[in-house]
Amino acid sequence: MEKIGRNEPCWCGSGRKYKQCHEAFDEKIKHFELQGHMVPERCMIKNPEQLAGIRESGLVNIAVLDYVAENIREGMTTEEIDRLVESKTRQLGGIPAPLGYEGYPKSVCTSVNHEVCHGIPSEAVVLKSGDIVNVDVSTIYKGYYSDSSRMFRIGRVDEEKSRLVRVAKECMEKGIAAVKPWTFLGDMSDAVNAHARENGCSIVIDMGGHGVGLEFHEDPFVSYVAPKGTEMLMVPGMVFTIEPMVNLGKPDIYLDDENGWTIYTEDGKPSAQWEVTVAVTEDGCEILAY
Ligand code: MF3
Ligand code: CO
Repeated sequence: MEKIGRNEPCWCGSGRKYKQCHEAFDEKIKHFELQGHMVPERCMIKNPEQLAGIRESGLVNIAVLDYVAENIREGMTTEEIDRLVESKTRQLGGIPAPLGYEGYPKSVCTSVNHEVCHGIPSEAVVLKSGDIVNVDVSTIYKGYYSDSSRMFRIGRVDEEKSRLVRVAKECMEKGIAAVKPWTFLGDMSDAVNAHARENGCSIVIDMGGHGVGLEFHEDPFVSYVAPKGTEMLMVPGMVFTIEPMVNLGKPDIYLDDENGWTIYTEDGKPSAQWEVTVAVTEDGCEILAY
């Protein structure tokens, strides 16, 4: 961390003197760093103006997913979901963040059954009764990014898959409840992982969440299998996703090397995921997108 004079303006842009603004906050972070913990860099801590921007972006993301929820049905192709997402996002003044991101060809990810994530919408994929599908929406609005996803059950879904969808949602909720400033991302992930294990499910190890807000994918990487007391210190102003991928079978996955994007479960069993964007606050967190 760069040293700042106590009477100089604070690094956060508030215009206040450092000693009256983030000095004590920085001291607290320093204390954890000296104990050997990973701590956030200043660029990961959003100021009130940035938080307001991400919050607005989140409102667009929520509205787009609400629109998907109203319209998704049996017999629809995932390509149609892509069109719903792109048109609704643009109607609300946003840009779908996935479109063109590192060459990604569509506006949304639609991951069906044993697809873990990054399913690419297609005219060839028709939603049928018994399917479970994750729709992962990300928005750029006035330059700010938000990211969230929900699961949808199509027609008559069997007991096992329904339970998986419920457990995955509960895992995300356990994670949200464990976001507290001056504790660790590992405390949050341990809460997520424990709930999956208690229900006989597994958490994907090699994929995780991420910081978000000023860019689509920012540091830190967010694991959902890390032990308590490990990973980065959470401090007010950090914004990241909680998006554990929960498998009914084993945690092993593989990448589709034909499209270069889609991840599947190795054992072919179903996978489910719910995602929120959260901001760490003084006493917990604020959900910015769901
Ligand atoms: N929301 C997804 C994630 O954070 C988006 C992946 S990048 C995309 O993992 F290009 F596939 F959209
Ligand atoms: Co994400």
